[in-house]
Amino acid sequence: MRVGLIGIGTVGGGTYKILTENSEEIFKKTGKKIEITMVADTNLSLAKNIVKAPVTITDDATKLIQSNEVDIVIELIGGVGISRTFVQQALENKKHVVTANKALIAMHGEELVKLAKKNNVILAYEASVAGGIPIIKAVREGLAANKIEWIAGIVNGTTNYILSEMKENNLSFNVALKQAQELGFAEADPTFDIEGIDAAHKITILASLAFGIPINFDAAYIEGITQLTQKDITYAEELGYRIKLLAITKLVSDGVELRVHPTLIPEKRLVANVNGPMNAVLVKGNMVGPTLYYGAGAGAEATASAVVADIIDITRGSTFNIPTLGFVDEYISAKKILPIEEVKSEFYLRLSMSNKAGLLAKITNIFAKNDVSIDAMVHKEISDESKDPDIFLITSKIEERKINEIIQEIESLPDNKEKIIKIRVEELN
Ligand code: HSE
Repeated sequence: MRVGLIGIGTVGGGTYKILTENSEEIFKKTGKKIEITMVADTNLSLAKNIVKAPVTITDDATKLIQSNEVDIVIELIGGVGISRTFVQQALENKKHVVTANKALIAMHGEELVKLAKKNNVILAYEASVAGGIPIIKAVREGLAANKIEWIAGIVNGTTNYILSEMKENNLSFNVALKQAQELGFAEADPTFDIEGIDAAHKITILASLAFGIPINFDAAYIEGITQLTQKDITYAEELGYRIKLLAITKLVSDGVELRVHPTLIPEKRLVANVNGPMNAVLVKGNMVGPTLYYGAGAGAEATASAVVADIIDITRGSTFNIPTLGFVDEYISAKKILPIEEVKSEFYLRLSMSNKAGLLAKITNIFAKNDVSIDAMVHKEISDESKDPDIFLITSKIEERKINEIIQEIESLPDNKEKIIKIRVEELN
């Protein structure tokens, strides 16, 4: 099997390394030689430093795509611009494609899957979700016997690192982000990570595999971690919870939930204890129950491990009868993706109030008349001088539209000092 790599950056370099260093191991598992014949990168000197003869190096990816010496094109440049064109060209040229590009699959997966099918070639994307964790294979193949009920995951290492540092070392969001950048965990432009977009790309792909729905990134609800404060992380801890950026997709009676947002999860859950840049994905199947997958979600070798696994699958010929998106085409059907206002969950609320006699009675009365139970509540003086309290609480499960109304009503009380902080809670059981 002859492989052409487009992009010899972090993951490209890792892929080259694995195919070179582990070639004997891989040969024993495939019975076939896998050979990198061409590498394309606009940075020729970088490519020349990494890649050794007899591999052909070019700065023209189209040449690689059209070459008779390439059977599988590996797209590792990312983004949805030129990478989309290269993947299209490769499929049209009847080359198999392996990609780590989550944005590309989440935004143009539908058209690319069709193009691959039309040309009778494989489009493989294991590395696009949770790096080295074989989560696509787990959902699509390992759990194929199940009706998937929900998936909830920490699928962005950068934000998990930031949140871990905020909790462990009492850092503010900005300081933790800066530290992540200095250590190379966060990109120079970390927008996609901290705004939750990267995680949304990944959960959109998993939702499609889990529920047999078309890939629908535009319908995902996305909220990042930029507004999170140290205070809420500490208060959540007092209530027995950790805050994680969770990517969630659930099959519910009215459709499918597809959302990414900071989430309180009980500290006793294994996933609450996934720290630093690691990823973890919980998948609940109706027969197997909850299953958990943990590992490195980014990094050269970890992500390349998934890229090479796809190359091995194609070489073995084992993926040809597996539907690319998990379901047979005729059974992929759209379901309503619930707007966030219609999603039901428990909520953590933090209220900042002026202390007056009867304050708590007024607040609890608003909950009572809306038939919402308060499951936990802490009333705390914020300083010795001021008797004004922070009040933080966890509600029973309620539709988001309803909690927004309750929040509005409390905010209009004369005793209310600041905007109420609202963070969703998931029990994950
Ligand atoms: N930017 C991603 C993360 C890396 O921080 O997890 C790979 O998707």
